[in-house]
Amino acid sequence: MTQNIYDTPEFFHGYSQLNRSVHGLAGAPEWPSLQTLLPELAGRAVADLGCGYGWFCRWAREAGAGSALGLDVSEKMLAQAAAMTADDAIEYRRQDLERLQLPPAAFDLVYSSLTLHYIADLAGLLAACHQALKPGGRLVFSIEHPIFMAARQPQ
Ligand SMILES: C[S@@+](CC[C@H](N)C(=O)[O-])C[C@H]1O[C@@H](n2cnc3c(N)ncnc32)[C@H](O)[C@@H]1O
Repeated sequence: MTQNIYDTPEFFHGYSQLNRSVHGLAGAPEWPSLQTLLPELAGRAVADLGCGYGWFCRWAREAGAGSALGLDVSEKMLAQAAAMTADDAIEYRRQDLERLQLPPAAFDLVYSSLTLHYIADLAGLLAACHQALKPGGRLVFSIEHPIFMAARQPQ
C-alpha cells in the first residue's frame, strides 16, 4: 500500500514548521538550481507531481503558465494548497503517483520536487510522464539526497 505519511498529524505539523512550508520556493534549497532547468512557461500546461502546498503551481501561473495541475496523495497537503490558492487555472487533485494516468501529450512541463524518491514503481511513473508530455516537453525534478537525509554516524 502506498505510504501517505503527510496525512499523519504529527508529521504534517512538523512539515509545516520547515522553511519550505513557511517561505515557499524561497525556502527550498533546491529551487535556485531547479529554476535554471525550467522552460519558458508563457501559455504552457504544467503538471506538478507531489505538489504539496502548491507553491510551484502558483509560481508557474505567475510566470505565465496557462494552467497548472497539482497532484498529491495527501488530503492535508491538498487542503493547504487549496486554502493558499485563488486561481481557476490551478487544479489540485488527489492522485497516488504509483498509479498515475494522465492524458497523452497534454503537458509542456511535468515538474516534481522532493517527491519521486517516495515512488516504488519509478519506471512506471516515468513512462506515464513521458506519454503525458507534448513533443519537446520537459520533465524537471529533484529528489532527496542522502547528504541531507542520511542518519549521522557517531564520531
Ligand atoms: C517533501 S514534500 C514536497 C512538496 C512540494 N513538492 C514541495 O517541494 O514543497 C513530498 C510530497 O509528495 C507527496 N507524495 C508522496 N508520495 C506520494 C504518492 N505516492 N503520490 C502522490 N503524492 C505523494 C507528499 O504527500 C508530499 O506532499
